[in-house]
Amino acid sequence: MLETKDPKGMTAEKKLESALLFTKAQLKNEKDTLANLSNISAIINMYMDDINWVGFYLMKEGTLILGPFQGKPACNRIAVGEGVCGTAVQERKTQRVDDVLSLDNHIACDSASRSELVVPIYKEGVIFGVLDIDSPSLARFSDLEQTYMEKLVNLLENSL
Ligand code: SME
Repeated sequence: MLETKDPKGMTAEKKLESALLFTKAQLKNEKDTLANLSNISAIINMYMDDINWVGFYLMKEGTLILGPFQGKPACNRIAVGEGVCGTAVQERKTQRVDDVLSLDNHIACDSASRSELVVPIYKEGVIFGVLDIDSPSLARFSDLEQTYMEKLVNLLENSL
């Protein structure tokens, strides 16, 4: 089993570095995608402060379907183009939303969510799914979180 370090006392950047490091170790030790997505959602939850949901939606038969996550129960399916997750798939790029209430098409799974970061995941150039992170704070996600989560998704893509 993966040995993680207590994030207490670490700076935000150190926590993100640790999340990356433990993701690398997870992907090195295990080839099963479901096990990897499950532990990666737990790793991010452990090393990122002030978030209320983190997990994956996976592309199946043309729609995003809920995958491994940490947080409250969430919507099962999201169509391409719908919500922040569906927009990330449609536009093929990371979505960072400072205030989800300012969007017409945000899907509120947890009414506490105020800002959101969604990174699309590709397998050999084809959309595989998205990594979705929600925070109860406005503008919680900065360039720092976006850069580290894009790096983490890149590691994951190389394992698919
Ligand atoms: N808010 C997302 C839906 C998923 S939940 O946040 C877990 C969206 O607008 O796509």
